[in-house]
Amino acid sequence: MNILILYDTAFGNTGQVAQAIGSALEDRGSVRVLKVSEASLADLQGVDVLIAGSPTQAFQPLKGLTAFLKSIPPGGLKGMRAAAFDTRVDVQAVGSGFLTLMVKLFGYAAEPISRMLKSKGAEILLQPEGFFVLDKEGPLKDGEMERAAGWARQIS
Ligand SMILES: Cc1cc2nc3c(=O)[nH]c(=O)nc-3n(C[C@H](O)[C@H](O)[C@H](O)COP(=O)(O)O)c2cc1C
Repeated sequence: MNILILYDTAFGNTGQVAQAIGSALEDRGSVRVLKVSEASLADLQGVDVLIAGSPTQAFQPLKGLTAFLKSIPPGGLKGMRAAAFDTRVDVQAVGSGFLTLMVKLFGYAAEPISRMLKSKGAEILLQPEGFFVLDKEGPLKDGEMERAAGWARQIS
């Protein structure tokens, strides 16, 4: 099985999660972990499972990942299986009622990433998932790398 973990990042935390997911899937086949700025559409060739992730900024994925996914031709992910993840701040920990409301209204990056993957023809394998950072530049909350590994291992 060919597995591609494609990620975007501003401060490096989403890259760490992507690496943890990649390591967790090493026994499932050939795994590549690629930053979207270093990826081209040719990297999708022969991929069986595509896992895409981005930090959540202003409730959305970063523009780099969005632009890459939008550039995939219609039906370009047909026959591919896929899943989406993001990193995000823990609004419970921040304790802001306003932010909690905004997040309820506008959500996180993983959902739109998952929708884009589906709209290009991929079969979505897992519920979109988010992993927490303690502050906007990180670090990741304790245990999130392990949780990301466990999330990814649900892929059969
Ligand atoms: C400009 C900006 C906007 C952000 N907006 C959100 C947001 O809407 N929701 C959220 O949970 N976190 C938000 N964050 C926190 C990011 O999710 C956090 O910086 C990211 O998870 C870190 O991942 P990275 O190191 O891969 O960039 C924002 C951060 C920045 C810098």
